[in-house]
Amino acid sequence: MEWGERYELGVARMDETHREFVDFCNELVAAAPEDFLPRFDAFIAHTAAHFAQEDRWMEAINFPVCHREEHARVLNAIREVRERVEKGDLFLGKRLLEELPPWFDNHVDTMDAALAFYIKKTNLSLD
Ligand SMILES: [Fe+2]
Ligand SMILES: [Fe+2]
Repeated sequence: MEWGERYELGVARMDETHREFVDFCNELVAAAPEDFLPRFDAFIAHTAAHFAQEDRWMEAINFPVCHREEHARVLNAIREVRERVEKGDLFLGKRLLEELPPWFDNHVDTMDAALAFYIKKTNLSLD
């Protein structure tokens, strides 16, 4: 994945987290098989924090189209893949890495873009 303007939503904290997401994905793609699981765990920890951060913001502004459930769905799916990878199914981990970029593109363009718009409108000070 390549970071680009298309991902910038104009909320610095969010953009920073999304840039890290892209970096984590790229590191995972480049990881040697023996490094895959620890890097995958680091990616999952970052993604859990990324989603929790947005969930907090959505709650703070009483966001009308909260996408907390989408975050939970995706994180659960990723954690299930992680269990399978631990049991030796590295192929499934690689498959996930092919699916993440289109998911992320769509998520940023729709759900996160709407959230960023509201955050800017409400002048929420972000934690
Ligand atoms: Fe996000
Ligand atoms: Fe999101």
